[in-house]
Amino acid sequence: MIIASNFKTNYTRGAAKAFIKEIQSFISQTNSEQQVRIFAPFTALDHFDEVSNLKVGAQNFYPVQSGSYTGEIGFEQLEEFGIDTVLIGHSERRHILKESQNFIATKYDFAKAREVEIIYCIGEPAEIRVQGIDAVMSYLWEQFEGIEINYDKLIIAYEPVWAIGTGLTASLEDIEEVLTRLREKLCTPLLYGGSVKVDNIDAILHVKACDGVLVGTASWNEKAFCEMIRIAD
Ligand code: G3H
Repeated sequence: MIIASNFKTNYTRGAAKAFIKEIQSFISQTNSEQQVRIFAPFTALDHFDEVSNLKVGAQNFYPVQSGSYTGEIGFEQLEEFGIDTVLIGHSERRHILKESQNFIATKYDFAKAREVEIIYCIGEPAEIRVQGIDAVMSYLWEQFEGIEINYDKLIIAYEPVWAIGTGLTASLEDIEEVLTRLREKLCTPLLYGGSVKVDNIDAILHVKACDGVLVGTASWNEKAFCEMIRIAD
């Protein structure tokens, strides 16, 4: 199972680093076998002690090694800290930051060429969901335009936009239907994200074709995140 936490734009450097240390120590003490990912804010990226099944990743990057892109983070700046897992296509970047599918595909190609793990996010807004599963699936497949899916370090996160940060989790039946349809064409791990919490993680991890979760809000608390890892074990 892959249990990932996305900090988004939260936590100071000190608080995020303390969180990472606590999760590292929990994993070491419990010998958890879950693959844990923490997508920390850029300001908290650093060299971390090695815990084999925990990776600290980047929430974003600009698809260059370095250059003149004011305010952006290039790959060289991530490599300095040994970052080898990144998020691409998150709905907040698609919808709030207006990243186009073309730009997302460029970022994907860039990260793939550097052979890092990619958690590639897809998801439909509420107005598509109400049109039924066929509309949802065609919307999701459009989010693969320009994406070379034959990549052994690719992980897909299905995150319905209307479920992100809203407390509205997709039903287990809806999650299973989407993940099963994705599984017909994809052999990479499939995650679910969208208001996952301590109370529902167990049921979600038991959904057929679900290989893990990408958690935002409910993971921003050490105890809750450790509890989610424990439930997955
Ligand atoms: O990256 C994580 C997702 O956007 C889910 O966020 O757990 O707050 O709904 P959430």
